[in-house]
Amino acid sequence: MQTRLRIVVAAPMTTAVVERAGREFDALLSQEHILDVADTLAAAQRHRADALLVSSRQKFDARAVAAVASHVKIIATCSVGYDHIDTEAARVRGLIVTNTPEVLTDATADLTFLLILGAARRAREYVGVMERGWRIKFGLNEMLGAQVSGKTLGILGMGRIGRAVARRGAGFGMTVLYSDLRRLPPELEQGAAYFERFRDMLPQCNFLSLHLPGGGENNRIINRETLALLPRGSILINAARGSLVDENALLDALRSGHLKAAGLDVFDSEPDYDLRLRELANVFLTPHIGSATVETRDAMGFRALDNIAAVLAGRPAIDPV
Ligand code: DGY
Repeated sequence: MQTRLRIVVAAPMTTAVVERAGREFDALLSQEHILDVADTLAAAQRHRADALLVSSRQKFDARAVAAVASHVKIIATCSVGYDHIDTEAARVRGLIVTNTPEVLTDATADLTFLLILGAARRAREYVGVMERGWRIKFGLNEMLGAQVSGKTLGILGMGRIGRAVARRGAGFGMTVLYSDLRRLPPELEQGAAYFERFRDMLPQCNFLSLHLPGGGENNRIINRETLALLPRGSILINAARGSLVDENALLDALRSGHLKAAGLDVFDSEPDYDLRLRELANVFLTPHIGSATVETRDAMGFRALDNIAAVLAGRPAIDPV
């Protein structure tokens, strides 16, 4: 009998993904909790793993990459972002890294719109009122939010997710602006106005939504200086990476009223995010769950397994990074 290829799945996965992993591989699973990196490395050694399936919650810095057992050929991260893996260190030692693009685009864009609507329409405060039992009639001048439809939405980073948010914005009758390193062809631009310099776009945004990868020169791209370029009363949305935003500057902008609100799914530190954000009623918060639907988490797990199967069969990775 042919020996089955061995993988370590270092984070709890959906039932469908667990079943497929078990059908196709000799899979060492961690369905109770996300393994930390040291335990993932140890599990890889113990299981003599050919591949690791990890998540964005595990940081593989250069030291961790160097410690990956030599029989591991691929680290497949079940995420589109890969700023948690030192890909240069992986390249140097011939370790393939893959991600899961495309399959989470719509779920993440949907969640971005939850943040836009939740922040603008004071969803957190409304839920609080209902949970406290309501009981007091509001005057027509009370509990007013900001209109979303008809406003101007600036998108920083017009990749797949940025474009999916742009389509949703157009559906809400918003004027859509975007900035990225390069202008898109018209069929992808779909009427959105391009700004070569993102600083030129900021003063025109009622909403600014971030869709850049984390790391490198994007770190803290939203800081005191760039926040000051947004108009007073604008709303910041981040469903990309917490590292894009200087949270101290964000807190000051929210407290001063320069920003009307923020909708945040990602934080500089996760899960132990800065609790000062929780104290502000005008911040709508979700716990990094952009891709968290059954359909999408199935598709992400399958895509990671597809990459592992391809590489271990000697074929090129589908989504090398
Ligand atoms: C991603 O896929 O990068 C999401 O942020 C989940 O980590």
